[in-house]
Amino acid sequence: MTTTLPTVAIVYHSGYGHTKVLAEAVASGVEADGAATALLVPVDAYEQNIEALNAADAIIFGSPTYMGSVSGPFKTFMDATSGQWIARKWSGKLAAGFTVSASRSGDKLGTLMQMAVFAAQHGMIWVGLDLLPGNNSSKGSEDDLNRLGSFLGVMAQANADQGSDVVPPDADRRTAAVLGQRVAGLAGRWATANAA
Ligand SMILES: Cc1cc2nc3c(=O)[nH]c(=O)nc-3n(C[C@H](O)[C@H](O)[C@H](O)COP(=O)(O)O)c2cc1C
Repeated sequence: MTTTLPTVAIVYHSGYGHTKVLAEAVASGVEADGAATALLVPVDAYEQNIEALNAADAIIFGSPTYMGSVSGPFKTFMDATSGQWIARKWSGKLAAGFTVSASRSGDKLGTLMQMAVFAAQHGMIWVGLDLLPGNNSSKGSEDDLNRLGSFLGVMAQANADQGSDVVPPDADRRTAAVLGQRVAGLAGRWATANAA
């Protein structure tokens, strides 16, 4: 008997590469346990990937935080999904999100909340980041997982004057991988439950 692994799609926009490296880290987490297949979809390739997204078990959204919200290209993608929305194509799929900005806060929560509302509009089921906050005690460090202390999704930080070869730092990339790993595990359980 052949078993088809669940697919976790990652739809993202990245202006300068920082969100892209996070998307790749999420994808590595998705495939870390060999329990799911990752599909990376830049927002400008959305139209060519609609059928693949409709078939995916989960979709993880990634956008930089620009002006306290998702970027313009990511919002264009959101609006372009209205056809899938009216047809309820993504209803019942798992959803999650990640974002990066230059400042520690940078109003990233607004971006993740936009993504969660967007997922709810589609009838998707939002999966948060099940990691206790790091770097919030005298024993904490910048190397901690979830060093910016978010539950709703992954928050990462990239110094404005450094390229994506350096930032966001390894801790944020590992945190992104944990989100991918979590969604992959849940997607397998969810697909099994739906098949029962
Ligand atoms: C138009 C624009 C708006 C931005 N707005 C914010 C912001 O609201 N908060 C913040 O901390 N950083 C802000 N930044 C910095 C970006 O979030 C940061 O450089 C991020 O790493 C870019 O990700 P990307 O390389 O995937 O585009 C902004 C950058 C741009 C270009």
